[in-house]
Amino acid sequence: MTILVAYGSSRHGTAGLAEMIAEAFVRLGHEAVALPARTAGPPAGYDAVVVAGSISAGRWHRDARRWVRSHAQILRATPTWLVTSGPLDDSARSGALPPIPQVASAMDLVAARGHMTFGGFLAPDARGFPASAMARTRSGDWRDPEHVREWVASVDAELSAI
Ligand SMILES: Cc1cc2nc3c(=O)[nH]c(=O)nc-3n(C[C@H](O)[C@H](O)[C@H](O)COP(=O)(O)O)c2cc1C
Repeated sequence: MTILVAYGSSRHGTAGLAEMIAEAFVRLGHEAVALPARTAGPPAGYDAVVVAGSISAGRWHRDARRWVRSHAQILRATPTWLVTSGPLDDSARSGALPPIPQVASAMDLVAARGHMTFGGFLAPDARGFPASAMARTRSGDWRDPEHVREWVASVDAELSAI
């Protein structure tokens, strides 16, 4: 299958997560590409779509929100999953964090098949306020390749059943 991972990312953390997701699909024999939502264009011709966005101050990344709204009609007709990249701790590893309200609304809009929150990334030298202040105490990389592979395997199993 051909799979698009579209992402909204401010400081490359979610971009890297989207690449990890695409790579995990490729390992399972799919064709998968990760593209910035801002330039991805319509998701026509893909067999499945993942939309990933970082959380900032409780909000899903604007590029992800806009892209989902712009292409809601195609996404409703395509198996779609939404992803959040956020917590700067290991709380996402349980796989049980619920979608934030903006993501829950986006899931309704496109009849998404599922959602996952993955741990986030913040570089110690992050620039700009308040990221630089946060980075003093909370920098690190909580993107977990094993968590990504497990989730992608579960999506793959659902796709096989469609
Ligand atoms: C200013 C700022 C606000 C953030 N707010 C939240 C938040 O409300 N909830 C959360 O889970 N993570 C929050 N994070 C963590 C980010 O979601 C995490 O660093 C993410 O991986 C960033 O992705 P990006 O580099 O693609 O933008 C915040 C990070 C920054 C720098």
